[in-house]
Amino acid sequence: MASPSSSMIHRLLLALSVVSAAVLVSGHLSPEFYAAKCPNLRNIVRSAMAEAVRQNPRNAAFVLRLFFHDCFVNVLRIAASGCDASILLDGTAAFASEKFANPNNNSAHGFELIDAIKARVEAECPATVSCADVLALSAHDGVASLGGPTWTVQLGRRDSVAAYQAAANREIPAPFNDLSKLISLFRDKGLSPRDMTALSGGHTIGLAQCSNFAAHIYNDCNADPSFVASRRRICSPDGGRNLAPIDSETPFRFDNAYYRGLVARRGLLHSDQELLNGGSQDALVRQYSADGEAFAGDFAAAMVKMGALSPRPGTTGEVRLKCSKLN
Ligand code: HEM
Ligand SMILES: *[C@@H]1O[C@H](CO)[C@@H](O)[C@H](O)[C@H]1NC(C)=O
Repeated sequence: MASPSSSMIHRLLLALSVVSAAVLVSGHLSPEFYAAKCPNLRNIVRSAMAEAVRQNPRNAAFVLRLFFHDCFVNVLRIAASGCDASILLDGTAAFASEKFANPNNNSAHGFELIDAIKARVEAECPATVSCADVLALSAHDGVASLGGPTWTVQLGRRDSVAAYQAAANREIPAPFNDLSKLISLFRDKGLSPRDMTALSGGHTIGLAQCSNFAAHIYNDCNADPSFVASRRRICSPDGGRNLAPIDSETPFRFDNAYYRGLVARRGLLHSDQELLNGGSQDALVRQYSADGEAFAGDFAAAMVKMGALSPRPGTTGEVRLKCSKLN
């Protein structure tokens, strides 16, 4: 019977069967990958993201976080997973999507925006540009449109034919993680503690829900008391969905104010303040807080590194026509 679940299992098996062949082919990402096939791609994405960010600056934060959560689920390490748009799949009852994994369910957003940008790309360049590349470009353009750094966006990723909900629960860092756990989760992806501290600067934009920072403002004793008092006014110990800016200084400006907040002990999440709490990253946090250029350069370099996690090489995977569904 050709139910969606059995066809998906079939595709997964097919994908696994080419893993050994794929090992022989290195992932060839290149900034010019679509230069001939879709020459207007960069403009399509840039103008769509600029429009989306004008409507709501948080769209840049949504898309940056989606890209991070997409790349970080790297379970098979070789042909599948990494930055492969697996997070964008809707899934079915039998096919547990990453979209509904703990770190994403009720807090990852931007799916419709990426679907809409992909639709514009499809109109000009049918069946050519992967959803994973649309997401990589959108994340870059969102950061840039809020004043952040630019970097060379490597392209040529393939879209997954599977999603990895259990792996997402295991591999994506949580707000209650301490410094050593954060370092080890990034190290598992080949990202250094320096990359981790620079990438955490993504928290210079966007908002978080009370349930993710209540423990920090009620249980930790390393936070600025006036900051704690003001956050407690909107967030009870039981959690809930009330929002606060992660960088309270300039929540929609991609700058280094996040690190100044950490130095002032005004980190919102437990995991944020762990970066400056008497540990190995203190000096780097202080450096970034004083030197916006140093942060921008390291963030850009680390985004390129994260964006290269297990690209699907050669012809494995697919170029999805709609990001939320397998072809
Ligand atoms: C270091 C480990 C990290 C942890 C533990 C973590 C955790 C979180 C949590 C709990 C939230 C709030 C979600 C909510 O309440 O809805 C959040 C938001 C966010 N995260 Fe992270 N994150 C980490 C690293 C990163 C990285 C590396 C990036 C991107 C480079 C990133 C980008 C974002 C953005 C942009 C938001 C705001 C999204 C919005 O406005 O809805 N995070 N993160
Ligand atoms: C996602 O959140 C909804 C609403 O809170 C909940 O009903 C559902 O069980 C969650 N899904 C998973 C897979 O945890």
